[in-house]
Amino acid sequence: MTVSWGILATGRIAAAFATDLALLDGHRLGAVGSRSRDSAGDFVARHGASHTRAHGSYEALAADPDVDVVYVATPHRRHLEDVELCLAAGKHVLCEKPLTTSEASTRRMVETARATGLFLAEAMWMRTIPAVRAAVDVARSGRLGTVTQVRADLGFVAPRDRERLWRPELGAGALLDLGIYPVTFAHLVLGPAEHTRAVAHRDEHGVDVAGAATQVHAGGAVATLSWTQVARSDRRASIAGDAGLLEIDGPFHHPDGFTVTTAAGRETVQLPRTGRGYAHEIEEVGRCLAQGRTGSSLLDLEDSLAVAAQLDRIAAAS
Ligand SMILES: NC(=O)c1ccc[n+]([C@@H]2O[C@H](COP(=O)([O-])OP(=O)(O)OC[C@H]3O[C@@H](n4cnc5c(N)ncnc54)[C@H](OP(=O)(O)O)[C@@H]3O)[C@@H](O)[C@H]2O)c1
Repeated sequence: MTVSWGILATGRIAAAFATDLALLDGHRLGAVGSRSRDSAGDFVARHGASHTRAHGSYEALAADPDVDVVYVATPHRRHLEDVELCLAAGKHVLCEKPLTTSEASTRRMVETARATGLFLAEAMWMRTIPAVRAAVDVARSGRLGTVTQVRADLGFVAPRDRERLWRPELGAGALLDLGIYPVTFAHLVLGPAEHTRAVAHRDEHGVDVAGAATQVHAGGAVATLSWTQVARSDRRASIAGDAGLLEIDGPFHHPDGFTVTTAAGRETVQLPRTGRGYAHEIEEVGRCLAQGRTGSSLLDLEDSLAVAAQLDRIAAAS
């Protein structure tokens, strides 16, 4: 079975996704939808094949009978309406992170998908990266002893001309754009947080440009998480227990390996990504569709909901 993908929107992440899609057997770019026909045509010229159709509206893409699954790559404030459009048209959906801007609207999206019986997952690609999966397995294996500390940071300097990152009406803000990665990482390793302290710095338009959270999890494990769109931070992560330390060099959300230090010595694990790393989430969706599943255990919607609730708590506390 070849999965025919539709890509909804023609921005930066849509292009990165299409580049990795082209690397994979069993997947093809069936169609692209944009608010502008020219933009859809340019995107197809750069990333498509002779069979790829260009649509001048999201509605036309959703209605395309030769598309199995739509990848939604619009700014997050639009995700709910764009995903609902695709589900109503009978399409499976992989939607960019964050699924929406609150736990309540994420729950609405998830319940809509469940009512249709169609596949939905959040494109939290970090969770499908081989080195991240292996690192989480090491933490859960007991090799580090009892894990009581997680640290994770993600930051970059957002260019001023990238409107999505600065305009509140497009969902701008470092917590939802970047903080979601450290928060998801802590959730993967430690489960839900029991107590949360958080701070944020906002610019003159109310956009949170940097923030941090300290979370206490079950058993007293502490996660220290930070994010910024105004600093070249180290983007590293670590997981520590009473028997060992696992370290991931930056950028921790799509690494090609990690190191583990225990009493037995220091081991370096290498697990390179395919392409830029988006290939792994594409393959996971393909596996789920081939098995007739409506959700992915790797990109579990219950985890998306739990992280959305934690992002709400951090936003409210900061
Ligand atoms: N997984 C990752 O590594 C990763 C990385 C970056 C971003 N993301 C996520 O992907 C989403 C898109 O981010 P991006 O960086 O690709 O954004 P972007 O470059 O600004 O592109 C967004 C696209 O959405 C469409 N759009 C619809 N309504 C729009 C509006 N009012 N203003 C601007 N664009 C609008 C446009 O496509 P058309 O003109 O073709 O309609 C635009 O090209 C966000 O939710 C973000 O969190 C994920």
